[in-house]
Amino acid sequence: MPSSHAAARDLEDRLHRLNDIGMALSAERDLNVLLERIVQEARRFTRADAGSLYLVHEDRLEFQVAQNDSLKSFVGGRRGQTGVPPVPLDRSSVSGYVAVTGETLNIADVYTDRRYRFEGPQQYDRISGYRTRSMLVVPMRDHEHEILGVLQLINALDPDTGKVQGFTDQDESLIQSLASQAAVAINNVRLVRDTEALFEAFVQVMATAIDERSPYTGGHIRRVAEVTMILARAVNACNQGPLAGIRFTESELDELRVAAWMHDIGKITTPEWVVDKATKLSARFDRIELLRTRYACIREATERELLQRQLDGENPDKLAAERRQRLQQLEADLEFLERANRPGEFMEDADVERLQEIAAQRYTAGGREYPRLTPDELAHLSIRKGSLTESERKIINDHAVVTIRMLEQIPFTRKLSRVSEIAGSHHEKLDGSGYPQGLRADQISLQARILALVDVFESLSAADRPYKKGMSPETVLRILEEEVQANHLDGQLLELLVNQRLFRCLEDIKERMRNQQKNTV
Ligand SMILES: [Fe+2]
Ligand SMILES: [Fe+2]
Repeated sequence: MPSSHAAARDLEDRLHRLNDIGMALSAERDLNVLLERIVQEARRFTRADAGSLYLVHEDRLEFQVAQNDSLKSFVGGRRGQTGVPPVPLDRSSVSGYVAVTGETLNIADVYTDRRYRFEGPQQYDRISGYRTRSMLVVPMRDHEHEILGVLQLINALDPDTGKVQGFTDQDESLIQSLASQAAVAINNVRLVRDTEALFEAFVQVMATAIDERSPYTGGHIRRVAEVTMILARAVNACNQGPLAGIRFTESELDELRVAAWMHDIGKITTPEWVVDKATKLSARFDRIELLRTRYACIREATERELLQRQLDGENPDKLAAERRQRLQQLEADLEFLERANRPGEFMEDADVERLQEIAAQRYTAGGREYPRLTPDELAHLSIRKGSLTESERKIINDHAVVTIRMLEQIPFTRKLSRVSEIAGSHHEKLDGSGYPQGLRADQISLQARILALVDVFESLSAADRPYKKGMSPETVLRILEEEVQANHLDGQLLELLVNQRLFRCLEDIKERMRNQQKNTV
């Protein structure tokens, strides 16, 4: 028998350890690791040969972890599912009883105990060859006294002889305390996990909303997010060259994933007609129709004029020749305007001059004279490359500014503190010619470079832009290489992207998305 002095010291020692265990448990963020540790620490604390843990899920108890030193059996926790069926939440089993009643059971020998007659332990023993004797089963209550689960300890061992003995009253009260601390830790992990899941779902809903605003760019964000993560993991696996020493932590990967999902969030404010601008004269609609009607009017007016001149006695043969020439000219001009309206055409100086000549001509309608092209039409048709005017380009580019402004308003956790910086830099270029901030290479993080490369890669590969057919992988690669040569994109990352066969990956992702879409229609 230890002296009362020694007993007091032993208790003090155990309380200290209990405190340490509580702190260690509250620091754990992985639920599976946490559950495993709870059983481990509780067993160590009471010198129990075996132990298990159940969590309440709806109307049942789910078996999470089981450890048995004698049987050398360890299941659940980090090792994944236990494969053991759930226990009904009623009084028929030891754990069910404790979960329903909230009582702690401290049984010296389950075979001979007269108060409780549970079949479970003996059935288990028959199958496993084990001999369950003493048992300490405690409910795990959180701070609101709700029972989250049950902690079950089996066969306390005498430290000297190794023989099975009963759990002491002190074990009982200390394990009750440990179980409550464990319950609070479980609740915390779940809370963090649920909050993260909620945020993640919110981010994806926002991104999907933006993706779905445009039938042309649909799915861009999702594809960028997926390819970004593949490329980031490829950086982590890279053992050669300047990227060899770089290893993103899981937190950094999470941060990059959220940034990728949010990179175009600013597009929520971009007018659809600019995003999807298919031709140069598109505003709310393509104004080429106006030009066609106008040219039909001019043609009719020309015919009328020539007829009038014939009635006035001019030579019909000369008039017929003039008619042919003028109508042919009108037709050629309209054809030229239609071609100029297509953004795929590069406008040479001569083309712009011809537009100006057409604009300088006038036609009469309803007794009034008008220019053949309004100054606004002339300005739009004179766009040298693409379909956007400078001011429209600015509206599009503004999405990067809006992205930063929106993300800076979100109180990100420390883990996600760089989301705004990464997402907001996806249009920056290494030579400083990007937007919105014109950052230079040393100011652009590797994560932002990954995102920038994947963004261009995905956009070029997309078959569904308003005025672009899908480019062949060779063309996409050539353009990306030119971007690297121009010191816009990171060459090391491009090399990795090519080595990882991400072209194939992107096709697989698109295929998967098409199938998902088909299944949801
Ligand atoms: Fe963007
Ligand atoms: Fe983008």
